[in-house]
Amino acid sequence: MLAKGYGRDSAVIALGGGVVGDLAGFVAATFMRGIPVVQVPTTLVAMVDASIGGKTAVDTPAGKNLVGSFHPPAAVIVDPQLLATLPLREMRAGIAEIVKHGVIADEAYLRQVASRVPEVLSATGGSASDSMLALIVRSVEIKADIVSRDEREDGLRKTLNFGHTIGHAVELVSGYSLLHGEAVGIGMALEGRLAERIGVAQSGTAATITGALQSAGLPTDLPPGFDREAIIEAMRSDKKGLSGKTRFALPLRIGAMAGAKTGWTVSVGDDQLREVLA
Ligand SMILES: NC(=O)c1ccc[n+]([C@@H]2O[C@H](COP(=O)([O-])OP(=O)(O)OC[C@H]3O[C@@H](n4cnc5c(N)ncnc54)[C@H](O)[C@@H]3O)[C@@H](O)[C@H]2O)c1
Ligand SMILES: [Zn+2]
Repeated sequence: MLAKGYGRDSAVIALGGGVVGDLAGFVAATFMRGIPVVQVPTTLVAMVDASIGGKTAVDTPAGKNLVGSFHPPAAVIVDPQLLATLPLREMRAGIAEIVKHGVIADEAYLRQVASRVPEVLSATGGSASDSMLALIVRSVEIKADIVSRDEREDGLRKTLNFGHTIGHAVELVSGYSLLHGEAVGIGMALEGRLAERIGVAQSGTAATITGALQSAGLPTDLPPGFDREAIIEAMRSDKKGLSGKTRFALPLRIGAMAGAKTGWTVSVGDDQLREVLA
């Protein structure tokens, strides 16, 4: 951009998935100390999650999202027709973030997601179904509502990290061979079990989460042979990690998150974590 003579009066249009959106957003946040970015997401993950809320970051070998900035977009333009060419595996990964929105904020929505997913995933060739549109709209509403109440992640916004503390570690340990949404699916299943095991979540919560993920054909367990100690180690390098204990965003039940009085996270010891990973 510098070589081409762009100045303070330019803007960046991020046309692509979450990787493009994050990188373009970070460039816009830092170019000339910040120019506007318009997000035009082309994957389901980016439409329902990455393009909303102004977090921009890039991944490094040391961990995910360690370099970045808050830079809310000037506009987000979502055209579901763009999903016509998205591979099925990428669609499933987007459903993981949609499931997350149901778990953290809206029980009826999660039930709707589980019942609509087969239809949404079987639709091909150009026409995004009404069901797909309904899911995108509700997910954007949920994320935008949470972000507007806590733009810089001082509290409530941490609930959006459900599934991501373990999920990010799984994504890193897989050498990024698992998609973000797949790793987060595994993370939500495990963090759901963790929440029940330590007595935070109502019994049955983990089973409902696992069921919703399985309806979308998403994994709900670590792949065989995964190094569990490497996952705990990876969580250390994640910004949420503290020595000997890790803070998690955990559900009380479907539609409600724990920790309203403790900053929307719950502290969990390594021993309890090891039990769930095993
Ligand atoms: N900033 C945030 O708040 C936030 C939230 C969620 C995820 N993320 C980040 O987003 C990234 C994941 O985003 P993603 O799932 O969109 O992955 P991605 O950007 O890698 O896109 C997935 C693949 O789909 C291809 N693609 C994109 N649009 C297509 C289309 N319409 N048709 C066919 N192929 C298409 C891409 O080229 C790529 O190969 C992760 O790095 C994650 O950390 C950021
Ligand atoms: Zn995510």
